[in-house]
Amino acid sequence: MRTRPLKVVLLGCGVVGSEVARIMTTHADDLTQRIGAPVELAGVAVRRPSKVREGIDPSLITTDATALLKRGDIDIAIEVIGGIEPARTLITTAFEHGISVVSANKALLAQDGAALHAAAEQHGRDLYYEAAVAGAIPLVRPMRESLAGDKINRVMGIVNGTTNFILDKMDSTGAGYQEALDEATALGYAEADPTADVEGYDAAAKAAILAGIAFHTRVRLDDVYREGMTEVSAADFASAKRMGCTIKLLAILERAADGESVTARVHPAMIPLSHPLASVREAYNAVFVEAEAAGRLMFYGPGAGGAPTASAVLGDLVAVARNKLAEATGPGESAYTQLPVSPMGDVVTRYHISLDVADKPGVLAQVATTFAEHGVSIDTVRQQGKDGEASLVVVTHRAADAALSGTVEALRKLDTVRGVASIMRVEGE
Ligand code: NDP
Ligand code: HSE
Repeated sequence: MRTRPLKVVLLGCGVVGSEVARIMTTHADDLTQRIGAPVELAGVAVRRPSKVREGIDPSLITTDATALLKRGDIDIAIEVIGGIEPARTLITTAFEHGISVVSANKALLAQDGAALHAAAEQHGRDLYYEAAVAGAIPLVRPMRESLAGDKINRVMGIVNGTTNFILDKMDSTGAGYQEALDEATALGYAEADPTADVEGYDAAAKAAILAGIAFHTRVRLDDVYREGMTEVSAADFASAKRMGCTIKLLAILERAADGESVTARVHPAMIPLSHPLASVREAYNAVFVEAEAAGRLMFYGPGAGGAPTASAVLGDLVAVARNKLAEATGPGESAYTQLPVSPMGDVVTRYHISLDVADKPGVLAQVATTFAEHGVSIDTVRQQGKDGEASLVVVTHRAADAALSGTVEALRKLDTVRGVASIMRVEGE
């Protein structure tokens, strides 16, 4: 057992960072045994130094994160500031000063993961980020390491706790969108700017990270098709219920059947109530990974919140500390397949389309013809009429997204179609 401590700095001490500090203190003896050396919290960089931070020695607090990293005696930096800057510069500075990094920052990893991995490799240091995807759930390491000998073909799951919390409340209690978002924010689930959650950017960042790991290729945030959940209405939930479904914001990553390309997308989707993802409540996340030899694996657990996320950060801290003592580093980026990311138009799935139409003879035939002309086959149609107007709900068989978009464009041009009330993909059947 080494007695000289490994020195750790916390960059950020908010919802996640404060829990990391608390666990580092309360579990210090166990961490020492598991690592083989004590870990000492040597500094905490924040934005507002005067804020009271329970359980943290005030002498450790600084606003000068860069100076902390340049001290010359730091072994590991934990970045839990979030966002692009100053996090990116600080992580790079850490590597340049021989410091390994644990980060929970999915936005940064999705945007600049390749450069950060390259910097880590160049300086012979670790970059671990289990907490960046799906909170407490061990997912990044199992995919990066345990499944490294298998071939992952598909990943589908709920990877944003805030939006799952909101959708669950809307569905189960009839709560309004804003009320549910406020509750999720108060519970520490939402990002500093919750637009990142509700517009799907956070889930898209996680999708990019997972796709890169799953398919050993580079997938950036811009490669991920993204739709948020702000347009999901009570009417959509009612429609979903009639079909025996609920609505979830899903991340879906697929390797094409010929293995030559991949797709990555995030959008709300109807899923059958019988599907395991339908019963994922509150801020929980769940991810299915389909691998050639392993078959279907499901990862489930708390997807957000201070303590659950800190658990993942601490797991990484132990791994990186062990590597440091062994004078080794963990796995770096694996992007050797260089597969292209296909556009959303190539994705094949089913659709639920809700139309407001004139309630008169021939409308149904006109609508059906439009679907047929674009090669989209209809599975079911439900019509409800009232005072000369009607709502028409069409559920299709599997079709390419580009064909569906063409159909909707043509439907909008029909005189008898007053509007397209909603379009939702149907998954998990
Ligand atoms: P918070 O906003 O609660 O905390 C951010 C921390 O960073 C604060 O302590 C803040 O200081 C500090 N900070 C901000 N700017 C600077 C700066 N320029 N220099 C030094 N410190 C700074 O965020 P969270 O803890 O919720 O999230 C942190 C990271 O973890 C993000 O990347 C997030 O995406 C990720 N994450 C969050 C989860 C969650 O459930 N909350 C779950 C999984 C990942 P001050 O306290 O003075 O304001
Ligand atoms: N805002 C994120 C979420 C935090 O709600 O999932 C966890 O990454």
